[in-house]
Amino acid sequence: MGAIHLRQRPGSRLQHHAPLALILLSCVAPGGHSLQTFAAQQRPWLRNAPASSRSSHLAALAANTAFAEGTSGAEYSERYGNKAPALTLQAPSKINLFLRILRKREDGYHELASLFQAVSLTDTLDFWVEGADSSKPICSMEVSPDSVGRAGIPTDETNLVMRALKLFADKTGTKQRVHCRLHKNAPAQAGLGAGSSDAATAMHAANRLAGFPATQQQLIEWSAELGSDISFFFSRGTAYCTGRGEIIENVPPLPDTPCFLVKPADGLSTPAVFKQLGLNKGQALDGPDPRKLLADFQASVTGGTFLNDLEPPAFAVMPKLDKLRMDLKALGFDAVMMSGSGSTIFCIGRPTVAGAAWKEDIVQKHGASIFEVRFCQRSPNEQLWYNEA
Ligand code: C5P
Repeated sequence: MGAIHLRQRPGSRLQHHAPLALILLSCVAPGGHSLQTFAAQQRPWLRNAPASSRSSHLAALAANTAFAEGTSGAEYSERYGNKAPALTLQAPSKINLFLRILRKREDGYHELASLFQAVSLTDTLDFWVEGADSSKPICSMEVSPDSVGRAGIPTDETNLVMRALKLFADKTGTKQRVHCRLHKNAPAQAGLGAGSSDAATAMHAANRLAGFPATQQQLIEWSAELGSDISFFFSRGTAYCTGRGEIIENVPPLPDTPCFLVKPADGLSTPAVFKQLGLNKGQALDGPDPRKLLADFQASVTGGTFLNDLEPPAFAVMPKLDKLRMDLKALGFDAVMMSGSGSTIFCIGRPTVAGAAWKEDIVQKHGASIFEVRFCQRSPNEQLWYNEA
């Protein structure tokens, strides 16, 4: 059985390297989303694992044990060695329970209305702080050796984390220099917003480490300069988002709901999917009233209308994604739909088929990775981040 590595600041409540069995014991408690629960739900099953390790994973599942891979791994920093970070935060992913595209704007972006929900597939970000030294860069980052997709993750100013740290320094004038170590669990080009979440987490961390010189509202406004999805992660975890996606309205949390994320090996480019939609500037896309969709989800998650206007263009760009969606639909989940601009398909509820064999079938047939997640929320205390009580 694997062990999950929970990194904590010195003096915090939880143990380092808690055995996963212990974590799972706390995982069965209904309601709150403790650090243990949150981490235990990051079970990136069968992430394109070789057949031998897939079958051992399935055996573990069958024995009702659990395992984790892609967790924080070695705690060694290439810059700071074994020196403990000043702050470690979890960056959740998101799904879109509905996503309406309303029209294409004159600036080329699409006006949308969507119900975003944070989910417990998290990246881990460690932060170290140094004092002012104008001869050195204001920020720097490294990526952990066992990060998902490490080879393709830049550590220069093209990474959203670096851009977020730089933007924060520019806006506030702080001279505090921050180094970030990113450990990635969540895949890119997946419609899960993980890169945006990392950026939001970095801004929150920089602000916190500097003693909160900026308000959360300022962080929301500044982050919109970097991308449309970042602002959502400053919400409470369930938000109705409009504009480009950057205008957020917190809505009451939805009930704890089982959810599987199924990510095919191939990703999808967000601009390519929006382009495939084929709207001209000023042109609208007809569909149900998003406020009505929101009200339906708030009455009952499983009673909501799962509608994503980006599914048809995404399936046109990647026809095999529709086949994956149909295979998942046949398993009897409450709902099956693409998240954001894809390529992740999420499944709400549990399959009607017994056992775990469906996972191996999907992995074998589609080369997909499967993550079991839960909906998660952020504390109303704006000085805390996801997964902090
Ligand atoms: O804002 P962000 O950088 O995440 O957007 C990436 C691309 O996705 C944009 O350049 C645009 O092509 C497309 N997009 C859009 N309408 C949105 C959000 C994104 O057309 N509301």
